[in-house]
Amino acid sequence: MSQIFIGTKNRRFKTSKDLYGIFFEDINRVGDGGLYPEMIRNRSFEDSIVPDGCEIVDGGRYFITPTGYKCAFNNGEGLDSWYEKVAQTPIPGWYVSGENKDIEIALDKSDTLNKNRRCSLVAAFKRENTENSIYNVGYSGIYVQNGAEYNFFMFAKAMEGAQTVEVSLRSRCGKKVYASHTFEINPGGFERFDCVLTANDTDTEATFHITSKQKGTVKIGFTSLMPVETYNRRINGLRKDIVELLAGMNASFLRFPGGCIVEGLTKETALRFENTIGPVWERPSHWLLWFYRTTNGLGFHEYLQLCEDINLEPMYVINCGMTCQHRNPDYFDDELAKEFLQDAINAIEYATAPEDTYWGSIRAKNGHPEPFKLKYIEIGNENYGEQYNKRYLEFYNALKERYPDIIFISNTHTELDGLPTEMVDEHFYNDTEFFALNHNRYDSYDRNGPKIFVGEYAVTNNRVNASLYSALGEAVFLAGLEKNQDIVTMSCYAPLFMNSNYTSWYPNLIIFNNHESYGIPSYYMLQMMGQNRGDYVVECEVKTHTIAERKFGRAGLYSEKPGTVFRNVTIDNKKQDSITANITGEFIVKDGEYTAVTDDAWCLFGEENAENYTLSADVKFTGGDITVKMGVWNERLESVGDVYQPYWAPKRISGYNWVIKNGESYIEGFKRLKVQFTTPKVKVNINNNAFNNMKIIARDNRIECYLNGKMVNTYTVEPFPAVTSVATVDEKTNEVIIKIINLSGMDETVKINIDQDVKNTARGWILTSDDKNDTNSFENKTKVSPKQFVIDNVSPEFEYNAPKYSFSVIRVGLS
Ligand code: AHR
Repeated sequence: MSQIFIGTKNRRFKTSKDLYGIFFEDINRVGDGGLYPEMIRNRSFEDSIVPDGCEIVDGGRYFITPTGYKCAFNNGEGLDSWYEKVAQTPIPGWYVSGENKDIEIALDKSDTLNKNRRCSLVAAFKRENTENSIYNVGYSGIYVQNGAEYNFFMFAKAMEGAQTVEVSLRSRCGKKVYASHTFEINPGGFERFDCVLTANDTDTEATFHITSKQKGTVKIGFTSLMPVETYNRRINGLRKDIVELLAGMNASFLRFPGGCIVEGLTKETALRFENTIGPVWERPSHWLLWFYRTTNGLGFHEYLQLCEDINLEPMYVINCGMTCQHRNPDYFDDELAKEFLQDAINAIEYATAPEDTYWGSIRAKNGHPEPFKLKYIEIGNENYGEQYNKRYLEFYNALKERYPDIIFISNTHTELDGLPTEMVDEHFYNDTEFFALNHNRYDSYDRNGPKIFVGEYAVTNNRVNASLYSALGEAVFLAGLEKNQDIVTMSCYAPLFMNSNYTSWYPNLIIFNNHESYGIPSYYMLQMMGQNRGDYVVECEVKTHTIAERKFGRAGLYSEKPGTVFRNVTIDNKKQDSITANITGEFIVKDGEYTAVTDDAWCLFGEENAENYTLSADVKFTGGDITVKMGVWNERLESVGDVYQPYWAPKRISGYNWVIKNGESYIEGFKRLKVQFTTPKVKVNINNNAFNNMKIIARDNRIECYLNGKMVNTYTVEPFPAVTSVATVDEKTNEVIIKIINLSGMDETVKINIDQDVKNTARGWILTSDDKNDTNSFENKTKVSPKQFVIDNVSPEFEYNAPKYSFSVIRVGLS
């Protein structure tokens, strides 16, 4: 039994209007071919162009940036896993049918449509009346729907005499024609050709074809094929079903366009506003660090239009003079940093200046005479350190002086370094347990400090990601945000989208292929949060019991330097003679002795599901300053972003290590190699010339470490509350909104006390499922989605049965 006491009369503070938002970043190929529904893949033919300044290695499998960062490339196809799924072609997305060389295609880098295009496609039709064609496979197939219309255009010129060319939508094998149109292409300069193709059948794996029965050569500068039926039927608009899912979240702001893509991998791939506006065929394309090139059709104007269409406050993230600090950063010199500052000013002017100004008139020419709204600017993304502070201050001072009404956001707690700070963006990617333990993180934040924006968060480390259990962990954390929305005024989940054929990060809130889309359980959790905001946060006290997540996993040995020997390695007195996985470096196992033969030798052994066990080893240290570790409960995590790494890559591991170094001993908890906490250090005596016995007892969520028989460190996994709750009052409906999350595996009776008379009947929604690992899929899109219910006989003191692993929202009418 748990209890919730709600004081509706104690209105603590107003709810924050912008607490729930959306964060869009072009990751997992969700711009072109996704939210921006271009149907032709590599419409500008530029995908195989190596980003400027970078060097190709391993025959095009990777490129290396000037600062030495290695990025998967596969000659423009991106990640290995994407490349392996497609037939090889030198011009990604584009092929020629037939084997008799009736048609040849090549890139021409010297004769392009305009100065921003890097190449054009030369198509030589070498035989008359050929049935063969040049074709494009779209983003894992082109989706055409019976009766639907598609806007096509291309810029082309004939190289000899006039050339008759047919464009068509066809079945995968090219035999069945769904729609076609014929153009007469003239010699001379590039000309634009437009048509509307209306499909006469439905196919999710259609292809786009260009053919000619006539001998001759044409050059194509740019192509595009997009549905007429975009959201609000806009030209160059956005995919309808996806925008509808966004609108369904009832969110109030949009953070865009990233994420790491704002920073880029190199100076040339750092995001510049000016490259993303104007006619799409004039926008330069650039390589996004999530392994593909964007044509920037989805640009600054389109983001602002989206905000206007579904009523979101825009939050624009700007590059402040450095490339991604997670990927061998390049810090720009003052001159280049100034260029980026000017780019930010230009963007703000474009969005907000009157029509009769330079930038306002360009916006008007692009179809929007009235200024857009632009409420928030974030200076940098996930930047930190001295270089960031320097640029942050320069950008903040220059921009704030010009735009005093815009709210500026910093990436770190710059106020601690004495810098002017209005709002700080904090990011969290972790497991359900972490989020549950952080339910009260903001209770103790300084009320006089800057506002907090939780700009990226997601449960990423569960054994089954994107599950109900992940959504519940996030819900507990968000209940904590709601309770503190006097200072935590904004938040958004990350990342937002994934094209299911191009995963470069997992999990993501909304998943789509070329014709379907669905939300993971977190999407529905956020929808419930967003639709039940209320106007005032009221007193809400919870009495409940605590739970701790079951811990299990393999045992491990680690030595920082070669030479350390582990012998008599046992688990529950059973000798361990074989290694399951070498995580980094190498151990040699001989005659039952594990000898580290490289730096960072780290191996795992034992059972994957082992829960309670005792690990023991006699250890010979080679020097006191060399770190030696013994680990328990090492488990493999789901992938996040590093999908091209092998299965047991160190980044995928979480667990606990007993660490001995420099005569000190402690326990560390780590996830994805990052140390999350350490216990206090204690002094220990190590004998370097003899074997020392190290023994860890891991039992019932507690770890005990014994050195030569003496207990030196302990750690108990911290428990989190079984039930979490937050309450707000909705003035318009005169209801108290009670959110209840039961994170335990047991149904829980919750006694709810309200400090005033209430209506007899309450309404609610519940998110739960048979199994906490349940998730949604294309086959069952709403398996984990909210169900509505009604509670009768409600009184100021009533009982609610919160099912195991559930999130409930109850609206009780106040009388
Ligand atoms: O959301 C995915 C990535 O996570 C973002 O690009 C970055 O800001 C963070 O590291």
